[in-house]
Amino acid sequence: MHTKALYTGSFDPLTNGHMNIIERAACLYDTLTVGIISNPSKKAQYPIEERERMIKQALEHLDNVEVAHFSGLLADYVNSGDFDVVIRGLRATMDFEYEIQMAQMNARLFDERVETVFLMTDPKYSFLSSSMIKEVHSLGGDVKGLVPDAILARMDELAQNE
Ligand code: COA
Repeated sequence: MHTKALYTGSFDPLTNGHMNIIERAACLYDTLTVGIISNPSKKAQYPIEERERMIKQALEHLDNVEVAHFSGLLADYVNSGDFDVVIRGLRATMDFEYEIQMAQMNARLFDERVETVFLMTDPKYSFLSSSMIKEVHSLGGDVKGLVPDAILARMDELAQNE
């Protein structure tokens, strides 16, 4: 059976914590789609097309991974894209409450065969969030090693042009 997995998030920007989940999920499933969602409750720093370009570049080494973006209800995207599995990363217990609520709501909305699968984030990255990266980077702090090099290069370029 060909299994199609989806890993979603705002990825504003994608970090090495996300990358770790993506590389592991890409080994577990036949194909993995990284689905960038515009989350209306968050004001994004990087436009969605920019995020998509950055992520595609950072994921060039993974043959079975594609990048897409979408808006609206996650379940609509999952059901219409014929995905089998939705991957979520868990950083620490603080993520658990929110994730279980979301997984249980989604279980009602997803087609019956679709499962949410949780992967534990590598402890090296469990403190990370996209907001923290943006804050440190915007104040001149060093985030090398915490985001993929291709993404950091683009963040530097965009910051210089501001
Ligand atoms: N490594 C590092 N950071 C991580 C991480 C990891 N493995 N996993 C998560 N994070 C960070 C993210 O960067 C994000 O940081 P930020 O808040 O500073 O931006 C934070 O943890 C939360 O991540 P996540 O829970 O994935 O939030 P998100 O906004 O990126 O994505 C959606 C959440 C968009 C997937 C979810 O809101 C959704 O599905 N929305 C669609 C609408 C919908 O269907 N709603 C009903 C849901 S039941």
